[in-house]
Amino acid sequence: MGLVIVSNRLPVVLERTDSGTRVRSGTGGLVTALEPVLRRYGGLWIGWPGEAPEDREALEAALAGYSDATGCALRPVWLTPEELQGFYHGFSNEIIWPLFHDLQSRCNFVPDYWTAYVAVNEKFADVVGAETQPADFVWVHDYHLMDLGHRLRSRGLRNPLGFFLHIPFPPPDIFFKLPWRAQVLHGLLQYDVVGFQTPRDRDNFTDCVRKLMPAVRLRRRRGGLTAEHLKHMAVVGAFPIGIDYQEFGVGAATREVTERVQALRAELPDRQIVLGLDRLDYTKGVPYRLKAFALALERYPDLHRRVTLLQVVIPSREAVPEYQDLKAEIERLVSQINGRFTQPGWIPIHYVFRSLEREELLAYYRTADVGFVTPLKDGMNLIAKEYCACQVEGDGVLILSEFAGAASQLHRDAILVNPYDLEAVADALQRAVSMSHAERRPAMRRLRRLMQRQDVYWWLDRFLTACGVDLKAPAICGRAASGTVADTDGASPAGAAGTGPASRTLPAWQAVEANQR
Ligand code: G6P
Repeated sequence: MGLVIVSNRLPVVLERTDSGTRVRSGTGGLVTALEPVLRRYGGLWIGWPGEAPEDREALEAALAGYSDATGCALRPVWLTPEELQGFYHGFSNEIIWPLFHDLQSRCNFVPDYWTAYVAVNEKFADVVGAETQPADFVWVHDYHLMDLGHRLRSRGLRNPLGFFLHIPFPPPDIFFKLPWRAQVLHGLLQYDVVGFQTPRDRDNFTDCVRKLMPAVRLRRRRGGLTAEHLKHMAVVGAFPIGIDYQEFGVGAATREVTERVQALRAELPDRQIVLGLDRLDYTKGVPYRLKAFALALERYPDLHRRVTLLQVVIPSREAVPEYQDLKAEIERLVSQINGRFTQPGWIPIHYVFRSLEREELLAYYRTADVGFVTPLKDGMNLIAKEYCACQVEGDGVLILSEFAGAASQLHRDAILVNPYDLEAVADALQRAVSMSHAERRPAMRRLRRLMQRQDVYWWLDRFLTACGVDLKAPAICGRAASGTVADTDGASPAGAAGTGPASRTLPAWQAVEANQR
């Protein structure tokens, strides 16, 4: 059985430069999470390469080069500027993204957006239909493609179909604002397995189904849940996504990273470093966090000169005016706070607006005494998990928003906060900074153990088991990068994926920049 991953974005982005087309890694938690899956199984990834289809030949050649280097075939779905506008910027990012993050006042319910969404899901169905072999397992990811299962089934595709939502699913009183709520639920129920990040999201989904589609039979079965709709049975479950713990832990302990950690420490001696690291997005709550930091400095003057906030913001969706406004707001707040509190020899906030190289990222994670992760709402938030995995000295403290999916797993040993409650966040920061090593260590040890146990492979195995799918890594690696399915005799292309976490043979994946939140 082969693996076909379908997501809006391919794990790479094509960029035109003066010297030709460059392939760089894609952005977002989805890509970060799925990279180890591809490393283990290889397979085919279908998605949009983040470019308009002009000069298609050159772009396809660049993608093929990347496929050859990694052993994972990439199949682009080209979208026209109009499709991008209605489907991606419109329906996905102006409706579903804010609505599913409980920010309904940011939604722009334009009727044409739905038409574009359906048309692009159809377009994806064309490519998936053409590329899929009868024995393949098709795994669709995220909110851009909720209707794809329905489109594939309508064409008679009988392959097992899994769907995983990386972002939250809202409760009925929010979801019901969506004019196309029935169509979206109907589409999701066409998959064989519908996976959510947390029990909270799964229960929100089943509450919506129960209220809006009373004919659907929801049943608990052997610890799981099934939804029967028009003679089709879907398994509905919570599958909290993990990280490649081993990869982060080992990476953070390398000599190069250790040297960077020492250099950072030498630059900021006698300071507690508090790390905020986010993709530029209004759901991440960066302005609230900065205000809470300022409030902490105001309330607790003993933090002055003792604490430095290192706030990294990774560029994202930069063409969208709302994101440009957010960037301007963050920069205004940083300069106001620094202007107010800076003293000779101490700048309270160090602000970085760019993607980080992998070593740089690992060094920040390892150096930080406090991980400051306060999204307003988040499907999971892998930053919180990566921070723990990189705490090789074992004495960091995690401050975590109770509205991040990660809180459902990490709540016992993180300091949980309501990101909207500035006073409580300021107090949490003071508490974290004041904790002794003896208090920090046992909590961080438990967090790291949990990250190790419930890593990305644990997530993968649970999801595939729910799908009844047994992927044999060597067989899948037999899918040649050119897209044809080679003999599955166990021979994988040079440099292709191995058979588990221990396999580390893909230089191109490992060189992936750390701009993938
Ligand atoms: C989140 C979503 C992903 C998305 C990523 C980056 O992590 O769950 O599906 O790819 O953000 O956003 P973008 O719009 O640039 O793909």
